[in-house]
Amino acid sequence: TGLVTYDPGFNSTASCMSKITYIDGDAGILEYRGIPIDQLAEKSTFLEVSYLLIYGKLPTRAEFDAFTTKISRHTLLHEDLKRFFDGFPRDAHPMPVLSSAVSALSTFYQDSLDPFDEDAVELSTVRLMAKVFTIAAYAYKKSVGQPFLYPDNSQGLVENFLRMTFGLPAEPYDVDPAFARALDILLILHADHEQNCSTSTVRLVGSSQANLFASISAGINALFGPLHGGANQAVLEMLEHIRTAENGNVEAFVERVKGREQGARLMGFGHRVYKNYDPRARIVKQIADEVLIKLGVSDPLLDIAKALEEKALADSYFVERRLYPNVDFYTGVIYRAMGFPTRMFTVLFALGRLPGWIAHWREMMNDPHNKIGRPRQVYIGPAKRDYVPIAQR
Ligand code: CMC
Repeated sequence: TGLVTYDPGFNSTASCMSKITYIDGDAGILEYRGIPIDQLAEKSTFLEVSYLLIYGKLPTRAEFDAFTTKISRHTLLHEDLKRFFDGFPRDAHPMPVLSSAVSALSTFYQDSLDPFDEDAVELSTVRLMAKVFTIAAYAYKKSVGQPFLYPDNSQGLVENFLRMTFGLPAEPYDVDPAFARALDILLILHADHEQNCSTSTVRLVGSSQANLFASISAGINALFGPLHGGANQAVLEMLEHIRTAENGNVEAFVERVKGREQGARLMGFGHRVYKNYDPRARIVKQIADEVLIKLGVSDPLLDIAKALEEKALADSYFVERRLYPNVDFYTGVIYRAMGFPTRMFTVLFALGRLPGWIAHWREMMNDPHNKIGRPRQVYIGPAKRDYVPIAQR
């Protein structure tokens, strides 16, 4: 069987070779296709970054227009797919609603299930980039009991998403451009992060030659967990807990985390790869200040977050373990100021990560070294023993 290396959590195992995203965790560097994240956040747009990740280069004007036009033509959901939403309980978390609806795309588009048919993969790519935003908005509408709005393809992807989320049929909804831009930047910051848990899941599922919809649906489920995408929701719940149950006493909470009370962790802190300030967190913190000022909101949770960060960065427990704020630490405060309920936060992460998942799935399918993902194990169960009939046990 050869030599097997025990590597829990795949800390030191490279599962693939990839040209998509470069991270230097010690230096706090993140680049998509070689371009630094701060340049993309400042100058690019989410759809352009999506093109960059998926196709490996910045698009020309003509390529970009063709890409966005195709996406805008696929934003509608099949009327039968819309009926799926009726079956979920009203208080369903929108993440499993999202993953279920994306999984169901395999049943509606059986023409695009061959992972080696280039045209089919292209069509699935465009369908996903368009429809996942509509599905996400409907998952929200379902949770508040409001009617679904049809997409308006004269609007941009993010503007359309905001309108389908917060708009009502009877009232025109004017998207605030500053608001849309802030969300667009947050999507850029989440767009890829190499072999994180959900992306590795997309690759693992896809390695069996499962189609793009099935693989992305699995990725959404992996993202749901609180140690991954679910952390943005967990951060806000933690801040709320500190504000109410702990009377804003940040010091006491940090001491509890250090004492590992009930396995408590400082949510939004620490990262498998970054052992320095997460470059995305720096940008998010700046947006948090800008958005809250722009919306005229003063949120005590932002003050608690800043006090927590200050306390943790000066504390030897966090310094020794090289724990810094990650991308999720400040996003929740912004989403909340924008009007999203806590349960939608991880859905917003999924929307951002979508082009990264697609890019990785496509890269893998075109990789001649690709093999089915099949880790080994170290068996530590009982040695061979005989079966005992039930009457003699
Ligand atoms: N609060 C307190 N202690 C922590 C934390 C934290 N957030 N994160 C790690 N530690 C401690 C941990 O207890 C361990 O201490 P010791 O060596 O004494 O046992 C040490 O730091 C190393 O931790 P680890 O669990 O071995 O590190 P990991 O690389 O396996 O975990 C992580 C990375 C992100 C899962 C972890 O830092 C964590 O749980 N953070 C909180 C959840 C979170 O914010 N997740 C979002 C990650 S960024 C967005 C994304 O990619 O999803």
